[in-house]
Amino acid sequence: MEKPLLLYIFFFYWHFLNALFTVEAPQSVYTVERGNNVTMECTFPVNGKLKFRDLNVSWEKKDELKKQVYVLLKGEEDFKSQHSDFRGRIKLLKEKLNLGQSLLQITDVKLRDAGFYRCLIGYGGADYKTINLKVKAPYRTITQGVVSTGYNEWKLTCQSEGYPQAEVIWQNGEYEDLTDQATTSYETGSDQLYRVTSNLTIKSKIDEIFYCIFWNKELQENTSAILRIADPTDGVVWTEGRRFVRVILIVTACFGSVLLIMLCIRKARANKDNRTPVASSSIAKLSKDKDICDCRDASFEEGELKYMQIEKT
Ligand SMILES: *[C@@H]1O[C@H](CO)[C@@H](O)[C@H](O)[C@H]1NC(C)=O
Ligand SMILES: *[C@@H]1O[C@H](CO)[C@@H](O)[C@H](O)[C@H]1NC(C)=O
Repeated sequence: MEKPLLLYIFFFYWHFLNALFTVEAPQSVYTVERGNNVTMECTFPVNGKLKFRDLNVSWEKKDELKKQVYVLLKGEEDFKSQHSDFRGRIKLLKEKLNLGQSLLQITDVKLRDAGFYRCLIGYGGADYKTINLKVKAPYRTITQGVVSTGYNEWKLTCQSEGYPQAEVIWQNGEYEDLTDQATTSYETGSDQLYRVTSNLTIKSKIDEIFYCIFWNKELQENTSAILRIADPTDGVVWTEGRRFVRVILIVTACFGSVLLIMLCIRKARANKDNRTPVASSSIAKLSKDKDICDCRDASFEEGELKYMQIEKT
């Protein structure tokens, strides 16, 4: 038992005097989500109208060092001894004291609020109970990523924050376990929260699905995300395809133009080169024809002449 303080002496003194006085905790374990409010309850016997002047109520947290959460001495609240961890977040529902209930409300619960709390009550007699407060932070929002790392190869990422530390399980569409192939890293951020990042690099075809499951063993809670392998370059391929077609068209057009120009040049050059030979040959042919004609003419003339000469003779 801890070293008794003034309050303890007071409580135990009364405890021995009135052994019938007992404090009860209707619920010994509370589980609350980080950021929410929690109200923990202890009950004590009140016979008739509550005499505030005779009432002492105390809540304390059993850490390595005891932390004062709430004190009401002889009906008067005393916040001077309250530990800074709880400043501004503690309220005792005083109206319920008349009913024999010591209700402690903690607002905006932090992960560091988790632990064992002792509620002490002195009223005629004195007694206490211990209550366990568990604080959880579910891995609710999973940020996912799918990145292509090669031909039919993908890097899948799931990231989330929560508490306590979660395992990350990977499965494919057939629920086969792929966790062995994944790497998971843990970082601690603000308020003890774990930032869990898990990567899985895997060969897969388009349209296959994978699951990442954040398994919070301690809280028996699972949250999961579905990752679908979609062709992220789908749109790009399409526009690139169009660009490709455009490029082909331009290239074809250019090549065609160049070909046409080359053809024209060749034709023009050919015309220029051929004009002389064609012309000369035709001239030669013509001249030859002329020559023949000439010869024929000559011979004809000669023949005529011969005939004339014969006629003459
Ligand atoms: C917690 O309690 C405070 C004060 O009573 C209230 O303003 C707040 O809305 C409560 N928060 C939740 C999550 O219930
Ligand atoms: C959470 O998922 C794991 C792995 O699939 C499974 O072994 C475990 O039973 C699940 N727990 C709960 C509470 O659903």
